[in-house]
Amino acid sequence: MSKLFIFDEVGKLLQGTDDYGKICDLLKSIGISIERWDVGNRNLGSGSQNEIMEAYKTEIETLNSKFSFKSMDVVSLTPDNPKKDEFRNMFLSEHTHSDFEIRFFVDGCGTFYIHSDDKVYAVICEKGDLISIPAETKHWFDMGTQPFFKAIRFFTIPEGWVGKFTGSDISKRIPTHDDLIQFQMSSDESQKEKPKEEIKFTSKKKFRKEKAKKKSDEGKNKKKRAEKKGKTKKDKMIKKTKKFTKKSKKSKGKKK
Ligand SMILES: [Fe+2]
Repeated sequence: MSKLFIFDEVGKLLQGTDDYGKICDLLKSIGISIERWDVGNRNLGSGSQNEIMEAYKTEIETLNSKFSFKSMDVVSLTPDNPKKDEFRNMFLSEHTHSDFEIRFFVDGCGTFYIHSDDKVYAVICEKGDLISIPAETKHWFDMGTQPFFKAIRFFTIPEGWVGKFTGSDISKRIPTHDDLIQFQMSSDESQKEKPKEEIKFTSKKKFRKEKAKKKSDEGKNKKKRAEKKGKTKKDKMIKKTKKFTKKSKKSKGKKK
């Protein structure tokens, strides 16, 4: 499920939502377009570039008639790629492009971060999402430490994909793709019963603190249970010994 997180420039979480309508509206307000293509019943064959292009032929033609792309390709990354760190680092810092950046996620997921005014919009794009980031927009992309995604890239100018780096270190202050995936699990698991608008998104620091506390509490409880068990066992042994001693005294008395 796609999610959007909005941070201030020091990495404090201001808002988070998984409501697709809200995600579209919030991104639209900063000039970013996101839409969802139907991905059901697509025959991707062996997943080659040509087969993927063929499977989404109609949507690609519609998009092409609007933007007149000069070229397109399919980029794919899996956790076993030996160059995964190198690829991840390529666009992990804030940059802009002279062309707009448009991606369609055929499979997997990745997070786009858009820096607009004094806020950072982090959107986790998943299978079926088409995102369009206008030229000269400050942004970066994180595929995570274990990248898994397949996306179609569209270009209107050959050198459009070249990143012009701003030199800002803002991307280091905002939670990574891996962190955001954890946020997802944290909010989904612990707050399943709550209505969407009440879902609270834990900050990176707080999440780690809570995780450590949970682990420590579990350890303490385990120790307590073990101590209790040991004590009970000891008590039973004492009781049993006392009973036995009493019995043998009685039997000795009878013999006399
Ligand atoms: Fe980019």
